Amino acid sequence: TSAMAQTTKKFVANYDEAKIPAYELPAALQTQDGDPVETAEQWNDRRAETLRLFEEHVFGIMPEQRNIKVKVVRSDRDYRPGVTRHELDVSILPLDASSDRSPLVVQVLADVPQSDSPAPAILGLNFQGNHTIDNDPRTRIPSSWVRDRRNGSTDGNKAIEAGRGVASTRWPSKMITDRGYAMITVYYGDIDPDFDDGFENGVHGVMPEFIESLPEDHRPGSIAGWAYGLSCVLDAIEQADALNVDATKVGVLGHSRLGKTSLWAGATDPRFAMVISNDSGCGGAALCRRAIGETVARINTSFPHWFNDAYLQYNENESALPIDQHQLIALSAPRAIAVGSATQDEWADPKGEFLAWQAAAPVYELLGMSSDDVKVAEDASMPKKQSVINAGPMQYHLREGKHDLADYDWECYLDLADRTLQTESR
Ligand code: GCU
Repeated sequence: TSAMAQTTKKFVANYDEAKIPAYELPAALQTQDGDPVETAEQWNDRRAETLRLFEEHVFGIMPEQRNIKVKVVRSDRDYRPGVTRHELDVSILPLDASSDRSPLVVQVLADVPQSDSPAPAILGLNFQGNHTIDNDPRTRIPSSWVRDRRNGSTDGNKAIEAGRGVASTRWPSKMITDRGYAMITVYYGDIDPDFDDGFENGVHGVMPEFIESLPEDHRPGSIAGWAYGLSCVLDAIEQADALNVDATKVGVLGHSRLGKTSLWAGATDPRFAMVISNDSGCGGAALCRRAIGETVARINTSFPHWFNDAYLQYNENESALPIDQHQLIALSAPRAIAVGSATQDEWADPKGEFLAWQAAAPVYELLGMSSDDVKVAEDASMPKKQSVINAGPMQYHLREGKHDLADYDWECYLDLADRTLQTESR
């Protein structure tokens, strides 16, 4: 019977809007006790409550403290005319300074426009290694675990020379620096390898005492680990004066699972001045309750290690979740937020990403978004392909094409950065 049960249980994604179950979204502006949230001060408490709900029911808990050391290991002035390429080592140290556990060393690559004033920046994790963003023969190749791509760009789970430049379309460094921004990237597997390792490796491995102190259901999955790593990199940006990057103007960007991660990094670390979700889908910007394309049950089956164990109770039970993903977006308020979708990315539910973005607008309004902008966000219907909705610090766009991070996406994000990060001082 168990074989039978398994065949009948095979997941078939629903893509039919007519089959979406009736649902009601949890109110972002109402406490769990049912009290209305009407002032910015009340939102502070509701924000803390919302953050806790995501920690306890979705992502798991990471420590508030971080302990890092940063070392610049390479500065290639005029890597391109007017641009310096730096490589840094960021060591994530045990929280207990007396511990003799080895730190985790994360390699950072930063292309920074040369200027008298520190540059604003976009920081994003990459999937395959810093060496894959272009053909620079000097960029270090990660020694941490990589996914076996079976296409010659890896040797089993090892990154190799042949991988140089294979992800270059996703990292248009010249476009970014020409517009005055630094592009900073880190291989996500340096922070935590993307497989279920029972908290052994990566950033979890630096803090076993902390993790063991948590209830089992609340232990952090990989998304929480990657987001914590992003905060450590932001610490390093703050500390490394030689980088000449303005840590108060750093946008955090991610695609897909790493877009889920950038939303969580923006939620947990208010120092990120701008938060960018590209095609983040289930567990990211897309509403869970629509259960269209990838669902909670499906993601918990394929990628259980991304989330905490409490999230498993919501398999085919989305309406029991105390939150939905509009509230994850709202945790970035009042900072700049960009949600990008792609027409052929049905697995990530573009419409669910749009509706979640829209449902976050009331929180932005409470925190000062103008009524004109609120109207733009709330009156908008799902935009046509290759178009953008701008409402104050909120941006949504729909690119034509498949699940990817493309030049058009970057253009939208840099436009939002121009509107929200730049100041007269530059
Ligand atoms: C899978 C997964 C998605 C994820 C994507 C990615 O498709 O189901 O949730 O966003 O991988 O990270 O590319």
